[in-house]
Amino acid sequence: EPGDPAKGEDLYRACKSCHQIGDNARNGVGPHLDGLFGRQAGSLEEFRYSGAMQQKGQDGLVWNEFTIDAYLEKPNAYIPGTRMSYRGMRDPQDRLHVIAYLKALSAA
Ligand code: HEM
Repeated sequence: EPGDPAKGEDLYRACKSCHQIGDNARNGVGPHLDGLFGRQAGSLEEFRYSGAMQQKGQDGLVWNEFTIDAYLEKPNAYIPGTRMSYRGMRDPQDRLHVIAYLKALSAA
């Protein structure tokens, strides 16, 4: 099944306490996710990232549907030392839904 933004919105409840997305999104516990696709990892000037995340970005990590998928599956395996306290979303179908939602909202 292709990613469904409506289903993704529901799954995004797991992210909401830390991340804002859409109109007037601001940084909170986590960085805001506007303009996420094509954004270099760890690159928002106003947010204090882990050294691990900043280094990944400097090494060339850019967020797209593949890299977001890998990070969400197991944040700490993809970026050892990341400060994101989220254990991961193991179901690949769920990740497709969330990514479809992120794509729809991050560009809005
Ligand atoms: C970083 C997505 C859940 C806190 C990020 C980044 C993405 C992301 C794409 C990298 C952003 C960038 O490079 O600017 C998500 C999604 C979630 C989720 C889709 C739900 C499935 C959470 C939760 C928390 C959190 C629940 C807080 C408990 C953070 C923090 C960072 C981060 C602190 C910065 C990490 C670092 O500097 O190493 N998240 N996140 N996230 N997220 Fe999340």
